[in-house]
Amino acid sequence: MLSVVENIGIAPSVMCADLCNLETDIRRLETAGIDLLHFDLMDAHFVPNMPIGLALLAQLRPKTACAFDIHLMVEDNDFFVAAVADIGVQQIAVHVESARHLDRTLSLIQARGVKAGAALNPATPLSALDYVVDRLDFVLVMTVNPGFAGQTLVPATLKKIADCRAFLAKRGRDIPIEVDGNVSFENIPKMVAAGADILVGGTSSVFHTDGTRAENIRRLRDAVGDGLAQRKHLGT
Ligand code: DX5
Ligand code: ZN
Repeated sequence: MLSVVENIGIAPSVMCADLCNLETDIRRLETAGIDLLHFDLMDAHFVPNMPIGLALLAQLRPKTACAFDIHLMVEDNDFFVAAVADIGVQQIAVHVESARHLDRTLSLIQARGVKAGAALNPATPLSALDYVVDRLDFVLVMTVNPGFAGQTLVPATLKKIADCRAFLAKRGRDIPIEVDGNVSFENIPKMVAAGADILVGGTSSVFHTDGTRAENIRRLRDAVGDGLAQRKHLGT
């Protein structure tokens, strides 16, 4: 799956796409070369927004072979896990802040043959993963407060990415770290150098208004290359 530059995955955030011409936009992204499609499912309770829903996911499913990366920002995680698993998705991240029974929900995801991830708001410490780290297939580190596109990176989250990499290494877990929020051409090198493996591309990169989808993904790849060079230099 991770094939762009030395296993760094590109996951465009569908809520930032042209929702009135979504199939066309997805074809452009596929042609440009992406690894996953990131879907933000919000219930207007956990976060005060609801950009896309289950019907859109179900309609898109048969139209693309791209892996579906689901980011749940909802109160009732178990309901949405079952609903999206029925549609057919490859990975699901649930917020530790909304999961009343996190371990059970992660098991529920994996029982459906879907990769399970835990999403952390910027203020949530990595210790929230202490007792589920062995169950995780990936970690979603939010670099903005969830709910909206077009926000600015929370500065402390750059160090949090590096801390997450160290946290996982200390526990013998070499699993992907996905980063989500203001993944911009400027921030990508720092995010990759810190240890990010999957980049959720939104309004400040993949869907940036200054370029076409193909131009933006090329620019994103260049930024990834800079980050990998920094990673090598840092020896991380
Ligand atoms: C926000 C979502 C992100 C968002 C990213 O809650 O999880 O995926 O769409 O948008 P940008 O990249 O513009 O911050
Ligand atoms: Zn997201």
